[in-house]
Amino acid sequence: MALRTQVGIVGAGPAGLVLAHLLDQAGIESVILEARAREYVEERVRAGVLEQGTADLLDAMGLGERMHSEGIVHHGIYLRFRRESHRIPLSDLTGGRAIWIYGQQEVVKDLIEARLAAGQQLLFEVSDVSVSGFDGDSPRIRFSRNGESEEIECDVIAGCDGFHGVCRPAIESALTVYNHEYPFGWLGILARVPPSTDELVYTNHERGFALHSLRSPELSRLYIQCDPHDDIANWSDDRIWDEMHARFATNDGWELNEGPVLEKGITPMRSFIVQPMQRGRLYLAGDAAHIVPPTGAKGLNLAVHDVKLLAAALTRWYESGDSSLLEAYSDACLRRVWRVQHFSWWMTSMLHRLGDADDFENQLQLAQLDYVTSSRAAATTLAENYVGLEDV
Ligand code: FAD
Ligand code: PHB
Repeated sequence: MALRTQVGIVGAGPAGLVLAHLLDQAGIESVILEARAREYVEERVRAGVLEQGTADLLDAMGLGERMHSEGIVHHGIYLRFRRESHRIPLSDLTGGRAIWIYGQQEVVKDLIEARLAAGQQLLFEVSDVSVSGFDGDSPRIRFSRNGESEEIECDVIAGCDGFHGVCRPAIESALTVYNHEYPFGWLGILARVPPSTDELVYTNHERGFALHSLRSPELSRLYIQCDPHDDIANWSDDRIWDEMHARFATNDGWELNEGPVLEKGITPMRSFIVQPMQRGRLYLAGDAAHIVPPTGAKGLNLAVHDVKLLAAALTRWYESGDSSLLEAYSDACLRRVWRVQHFSWWMTSMLHRLGDADDFENQLQLAQLDYVTSSRAAATTLAENYVGLEDV
C-alpha cells in the first residue's frame, strides 16, 4: 500500500531538512527519504560558515538556540599574501552584517532533532529510490527499506538529494548543464587544536592556496589546495602540517598550532549549474541543482535560499491555488545562483595557483589582492557578497 503525503522530499541534507521544517510551519505535510544512516548524516564534516541571512532564518524557525550558545560570530576575515595578513572588516563594510561559524553537521543535528521531536516522518537508510509521474499530477517515489519495496504518492517532489542524487538525472535530458572543473581540489583536516587565528585566513601562496578556519575554541578546520586526483593515503599528518606551515608563514613570525588530526579528506572543485531547476511537479534544490567551489563558503547558504523560495511558493499554492511562484521558482533561484557562482569563481581564481598559470597571471592575482585590501569600494564588493547579498 502506498504512503500518501503532500510533499515527498528526497534527501536529508540542509536543503531537505530546512524545506520540511518550513512546510511544517505552514501546515503542509511532508515525508523525507534519506539514503544514509542518521549517524552518518550527523557526523559528515562539511561547511562551517553561515551567512547572516541563513542564521536569521534558523532563528526565525526557532532553531537558533544551540547556534547562539555554541556558534561564533565573526566580523571580518583575513586575506594573506606576500607573507602578510590584511583584514577585510566585513561588518564595518556592510552596515553591521556578520557571519556565523557553526558546523553544517550541527545545523543538521538541530534540524533532525526538531523533526523527530515533532513526530514528523524522516526515513533513514532507504535504497533504490526512483521518481516518476511528475509530468502529470500524481508524482510517486519508489524506494526500498528493510528489504521491502515501498511507494509514496504525493502532490510534489522536492529533489534535495545533492550532487550524486537521483532526481536531477531523472530530468537531465531536458536541462541545460553548465559544468566547469578546476584542475585542483582541497585537502581538508579537522584537528583538535585551538585555532591559531581569531578570524578565517585565506592565503595565496606560491605553493598553493591555504585556508585556516575553525569550529570551536578547541577545534581547527584547515584546507590546502592539492591535486584533485591525489590519494589521501599519500598525505601523512606530518606532511600535511609541513605544507600548512610553509603556506601560512608570515614575515612577522605568526605561529600555526599543531594538534591531532581527527578527520582528513580530499574534495575536487567544480562549478556546476542546471537550468531550469524544475520540470512538471519535480523541483530541484541545493547541490542537486548547483555546485560552487567552496572558496566563497556559499553552498549550504545557497541550498537554504532555494528552499526558502520553494516553501513560500508551495505555501501560496496550497493556500490559494495560485501557482505563479512555483512557475517562477527556477528563475528566482537562478538569479542568486549565478551571482554566487561568479563570486565563488572570483575568490577561487584570485587565491589558487591555477594549473598552467604563468608568472603574468600570478602577478595579476597579487594586483587584485592589493586592490581588494586597499580600496574601500573593492573590499566592500567582497564583503557584501561574503556575508550574503540581501536582494538577489
Ligand atoms: P547535501 O548536503 O549533499 O544533502 C543531500 C542528501 O541527500 C544527503 O544526505 C545524501 O545522503 C542524500 N541522498 C543522496 N542521494 C540520495 C538518494 N538517492 N535517496 C535518498 N537520499 C539521497 N557551503 C557553505 O555554505 N559554507 C561553507 O563553508 C562550505 N564549506 C564546504 C567545505 C567542503 C569541504 C565541502 C565538500 C562543501 C562545503 N560547502 C560549504 C558546501 C555545502 O556543504 C553543500 O553545498 C551543502 O551540503 C548542500 O546541501 P544539500 O542539502 O543541497 O545537499
Ligand atoms: C569551513 O570552515 O569548513 C570553511 C570555511 C570557509 C570556506 C570553506 C569552508 O570558504
